[in-house]
Amino acid sequence: MVTYEAIDNIAGNRSPLDAQLAEAISGVVHSAIGAMDLGNYSAHEREFIASWWPPERIVELSRGSFLVIAREGEELIGSGMIVPEELWQVRMLYVSPEFQRGGVGSNILQRLEDAAMRHGVQAVRLETFLGSPSQVFYEKNGWVASPGCIRHNIGSEVTYRCMAMEKLLP
Ligand SMILES: CC(C)(COP(=O)(O)OP(=O)(O)OC[C@H]1O[C@@H](n2cnc3c(N)ncnc32)[C@H](O)[C@@H]1OP(=O)(O)O)[C@@H](O)C(=O)NCCC(=O)NCCS
Repeated sequence: MVTYEAIDNIAGNRSPLDAQLAEAISGVVHSAIGAMDLGNYSAHEREFIASWWPPERIVELSRGSFLVIAREGEELIGSGMIVPEELWQVRMLYVSPEFQRGGVGSNILQRLEDAAMRHGVQAVRLETFLGSPSQVFYEKNGWVASPGCIRHNIGSEVTYRCMAMEKLLP
């Protein structure tokens, strides 16, 4: 059975995310990116993209954010965050490859949207890989493409071909 846990640090008053948990989340992200169909990226770019989410960055971003993790038994199998920026953004939503298409991603996403709604937020935003299957996933969950993100550089290494999406909350 999959269980979900929310770590609400929007008020910024909790202690930093446990390092071991951040390590496990980073592992899930790494494996999900590794399995993604990113046919238009080179091997070097994929490696770079996979390295976006080291544990330290996850700890950093979790300060002031709402994080949801999913576990199957003891094993961490998915995570996602919503970050209260000028527009609240869904970040780092990934499910381990062997647990994808089982509803885990939708469940995490719903919990992130619910958290935003509890804070009176009316619209949420995210960026994802242009042309990737995740676009279908977000559309199934009521998100639509929005302007504002076509491609941008990550350092001088990679041009990330991204797609912005948004959802109006009830
Ligand atoms: C995108 C992702 C988070 C979705 O999580 P998930 O648990 O697999 O998604 P769900 O099972 O809730 O899928 C819900 C619906 O979305 C659609 N969907 C999900 N993954 C899809 C895929 N790879 N191709 C086409 N449609 C997909 C389907 O309609 C699915 O319903 P169905 O399985 O009944 O047909 C997960 O697959 C993942 O981590 N992918 C790789 C990383 C990624 O793209 N993350 C987003 C970065 S911003």
